[in-house]
Amino acid sequence: MELNRIRLESARISAPVKFLFLSDLHDRPAPQALELLKQEKMDFIAFTGDAVNRHSGTAEQSLRFLEEAAKLCPVFFSVGNHENALPDMPWERLAAAGVAVLDNAETEIAGLRVGGLSSWLKAEEKKPAARRFAENFSRDDGKFRLLLCHHPEYYPLFLRDLELDLILSGHAHGGQIRILGQGLYAPGQGILPRYTAGLHDGRLLISRGMANHTVIPRLFNPPEMLVVEIG
Ligand SMILES: [Fe+2]
Repeated sequence: MELNRIRLESARISAPVKFLFLSDLHDRPAPQALELLKQEKMDFIAFTGDAVNRHSGTAEQSLRFLEEAAKLCPVFFSVGNHENALPDMPWERLAAAGVAVLDNAETEIAGLRVGGLSSWLKAEEKKPAARRFAENFSRDDGKFRLLLCHHPEYYPLFLRDLELDLILSGHAHGGQIRILGQGLYAPGQGILPRYTAGLHDGRLLISRGMANHTVIPRLFNPPEMLVVEIG
């Protein structure tokens, strides 16, 4: 597991903010993340979905991780497509642990507005509400707008046209196989996808994810967690 750090600047931030950005656990344990949280103070965790592994139909290890993490700092969770594939996802268990599931919903922390946009993959009926939520979330009230959105392909689709200060995404797993910094394939984007890792346009930050869920191995593409500091 690679630990990557990024520093951003914004005039909308009154006091520096530091958070851990995690994505795509796919029902794997994450002891490195818990260790890091014990060593470094974070204002919160932003988790951009796919706690579930839809192939095994399980989420137990992810749930245990999120429960432990929520004891250490606030956790915000936006919904991924694998969550859509688990009809009996125990959302009430996350709520009991204090994990804030932002499913087309927003909250505030450390002077930032944090929103979670839902995945509508395999759940097309969720699309209109998600788009309405994102448009409303982009309103300008002077506060930093941090949007958690599992799918990076929603950026060219419509998020790019909205005034958002930072968008966090996962889902693409770095393109699974990376050659010279280019991912090979991502769902929703196809071959040689554009949005699989790193910072784009200074405001779309994509995690390569923390795990794998397919039989295709990750090549030249280690899982990662990101520490984001905004000053
Ligand atoms: Fe996904």
